[in-house]
Amino acid sequence: TIKRLTAVDIRARKGGDPIVSLTAYTKPIAKLADPHCDVLLVGDSLGMVVYGFDSTLPVTLQMMIDHGRAVMRGSQHALVVVDMPFGSYEAGPDKAFASAARILAETGAGAVKLEGGVSMAPTIQFLTQRGIPVMAHVGLTPQAVNAFGGYSVQGRGAAAQKVLDDAKAVADAGAFAVVLEKLPASLSDRVTAEIDIPTIGIGASAGCDGQILVIDDMLGLFSDFRPKFVRRYAELGQAADQAIADYAGDVRARRFPGPEHLFADEAPKPKG
Ligand code: KIV
Ligand code: NA
Repeated sequence: TIKRLTAVDIRARKGGDPIVSLTAYTKPIAKLADPHCDVLLVGDSLGMVVYGFDSTLPVTLQMMIDHGRAVMRGSQHALVVVDMPFGSYEAGPDKAFASAARILAETGAGAVKLEGGVSMAPTIQFLTQRGIPVMAHVGLTPQAVNAFGGYSVQGRGAAAQKVLDDAKAVADAGAFAVVLEKLPASLSDRVTAEIDIPTIGIGASAGCDGQILVIDDMLGLFSDFRPKFVRRYAELGQAADQAIADYAGDVRARRFPGPEHLFADEAPKPKG
């Protein structure tokens, strides 16, 4: 059996080979991504991608645990990181610990991720000092959509200093890595140079220590909107549309099922 990567292994990749990460929400997708990835993130983006919510805010701890279990069943190599959903950690370190402990105990995942910088540093320290590896997430943090007033680029101009302070705070608090989302490339490079934990970019910079994308975006399965930072590596949505149209046509023309899909009155005689 393969030894699964740990948060310690990912932490040690600072400045080394880029950390390949994708989101995964289900067992079959985890099985496809696992051999190629260092990190599989069970992102709360599943609220929008899988459940059709219009933000990540309605996602519950139980949903994250259920999908975390599915992704663990479909993977054996990558570190599985499970997002802490909105409302499960912000009230304070005790609440965050209880939520994170449930995630690790009930899924078997190796780490949690939470959004926030300076304001979450005490919580990150509380968790990491108690055996819970934490990936942080700064820049555009989608759970704060109501406070940001949208999903616009963060850290431009004078706002750069806040992002730098946030990234330094989570590194000092003991996070093993940090996601940088939707920042100017030059700021992403500066953060990557100035902190000693790996940065994992999404809409950030090719100079980050790793990259992550939402898998449905890069496979062309999610088309409600198309972020600038996504490169589409496949058009599986189009392929599925064609397949479903072909099936519908076959059913309507009675071309499906074919003889090879049908059962005879009598069981076939055993061969031999
Ligand atoms: O929920 C998610 O998919 C994420 C990544 C985009 C970093 O947080
Ligand atoms: Na997320």
